Amino acid sequence: MELSTEPRYDRIGEGYARYRRPDQRFAARIEAALGDARTVVNVGAGTGSYEPRDRHVVAVEPSDVMAAQRPPDLAPAIRAGAGALPLRDGSVDAAMAVVTVHHWDADQERGVRELRRVARGPVVILTYDPRVSGAMWLMADYLPEVAALDHRIFPLPETLAAWLGGAVSVEAVPIPRDTPDWMLGSFWAHPERVLDPQARAGTSGFARMDPAIVARTVDAVQRDLGSGAWDERHGHLRELEAYDAGLRLIVAAP
Ligand SMILES: C[S@@+](CC[C@H](N)C(=O)[O-])C[C@H]1O[C@@H](n2cnc3c(N)ncnc32)[C@H](O)[C@@H]1O
Repeated sequence: MELSTEPRYDRIGEGYARYRRPDQRFAARIEAALGDARTVVNVGAGTGSYEPRDRHVVAVEPSDVMAAQRPPDLAPAIRAGAGALPLRDGSVDAAMAVVTVHHWDADQERGVRELRRVARGPVVILTYDPRVSGAMWLMADYLPEVAALDHRIFPLPETLAAWLGGAVSVEAVPIPRDTPDWMLGSFWAHPERVLDPQARAGTSGFARMDPAIVARTVDAVQRDLGSGAWDERHGHLRELEAYDAGLRLIVAAP
């Protein structure tokens, strides 16, 4: 259903920085995983969310729309993709890739191996396990199309581990109810967000769907919120402070 060859985020990245503000709790997990790395390549760097401010960063980002939303105090992003990083072997202390590998299409394996090639130290990937994200109410009850897409585009943590080689840890990253990063997983606590076109547009899950599927989903969630059916089935979620929607921190040791 992709209609053009321009970078996908040149079409769906508008307004990203407003709705996808970094969550300091995720940032702390990434920072800890980077260890004492002084030089870091951030691949699929986007608007610079989660990019460390106190290390020397090389940012790599193919979409001009995303790069244009980077704050002026961050390093400019090199216009390149993950499949052929413009860096020498072992030339940075660490590599990071945050909710981006699922956008690398045919370059996924090559790109992950590129992260390993250029980093002397840890490779840190934040991504989703589609088996877990697909079980969240939104995908399970309303949007099986996103669950199916996610199963196709998100490599399983064990696949990433195999591409990275060596010792790899996989940790769950629960998504707090009040996260300022309105990724699709954050909707676990906020069914009302499904009714907000701008919140939807900030997630590639919704942005990549056919408009008829989106309209069907919005209608169904609106109906179930109005009738109380959503709260009957999922109201217990309103009591939780955080939830495992499938977000995973994958760290490959040097
Ligand atoms: C959901 S955004 C995440 C951006 C940023 N890492 C963050 O955490 O906010 C996904 C990013 O991956 C980028 N991307 C898409 N295809 C890519 C590729 N082949 N190589 C590197 N980055 C890519 C997109 O342009 C977009 O900026």
